[in-house]
Amino acid sequence: MTVVATQGLGATVGVQVVGVDRDRLLQDDALPAFVLETLEAHGVLVFRDLHVDDATQVAFSKRLGRVEVFGKGENPEIFRITLDPAKNPMAAYLRGTFDWHIDGCTDDVPIMATILSAHAVAESGGETEFASTYTAFDDLSDEEKQRCLSLRVVHSFEAAQRMINDDPSPEELALWRRRPSKEHPLAWTHVSGRRSLVLGATTSHVAGMDVDEGRALLADLLARATAPERVYRHEWAVGDLVIWDNRGVLHRACPYDPTSARDMHRTTLHGEEPIQ
Ligand code: OGA
Ligand code: MN
Repeated sequence: MTVVATQGLGATVGVQVVGVDRDRLLQDDALPAFVLETLEAHGVLVFRDLHVDDATQVAFSKRLGRVEVFGKGENPEIFRITLDPAKNPMAAYLRGTFDWHIDGCTDDVPIMATILSAHAVAESGGETEFASTYTAFDDLSDEEKQRCLSLRVVHSFEAAQRMINDDPSPEELALWRRRPSKEHPLAWTHVSGRRSLVLGATTSHVAGMDVDEGRALLADLLARATAPERVYRHEWAVGDLVIWDNRGVLHRACPYDPTSARDMHRTTLHGEEPIQ
C-alpha cells in the first residue's frame, strides 16, 4: 500500500489527502486502491491545489472504475455543474442540488462515486455539504433499525423537482413523470455488510404507509442524518478536487447566485451495487 497522509475533516465523513500531485494521480500504482478504500472508510476525499485539466481528471477517474459518458466532444465524460445555461443546457435542474440528496436514486443502480474539480468558485455560498448515511443508520436505536429494515420508499424525479418548483405547469409535470419512479429499501444492506439509510430529495413516500406519516418519518430521519454536527462543509478553492462515495453519503450544494461563475467539472463512476 502506498504511503499517503490524510487529515480528518468532518465528524462523520471527510479526509483530506496530503502530498499527492497531478503526476501521482496518474502514475502511482497503489493510489487507486488507496483512494477506493479510503472512500469506503471516510465517504469524502479532498485534494487541495490539484488544478487538474479535463483529460487528467478523466484519466484519473478511469483508474478508479468505469466512468459514465454524458456528452460528445473531446472529453465526453465531463459534465459541467454550473447554473449558467450557456455552459450546461440542463442548468435549471441543477437547482435540485441545493437539497440533500443521493445521486441516481431513481435508477436501478445508483452511481458509485462522483468527482468534482473546481474551475471557478462562487464569490459567496456554493460550498458543498456532506453527511454519512452509514452513521445515520448506526446511530438509530435497535427498534428504529428494525423498522427501517422493514420499510420501502418510493423515489421519484417529481419529488425532487417539487422541492424547487411546487407549482409546476402541466407540461413540466408531464416531463417529470416521464422518468419512472423507483422503490428502494429504506435501509441499504451493502455487499460489505454495512448498512446505510437511503434518504434525500428523491424520496416521495413510504410504500404502504399513510403518505403524511411516511413523509414525517423520512423528514425526521433526514434531519437527524444531516444535523449540523454530522456535516462536513467543503469550502471550495479553485484547483480543489473532491470525491464522494455516493453509496454512503448525502450531499447538497449551499445556495449561490445563479449568475455566479461557479463551475465544477464532474466525472461520475458507474455503480455496481443495487440498493438492496
Ligand atoms: C452533484 C452535486 C453539488 C455541488 O454534482 O451531484 O450535487 O456542490 N453537486 O455542486
Ligand atoms: Mn448530486
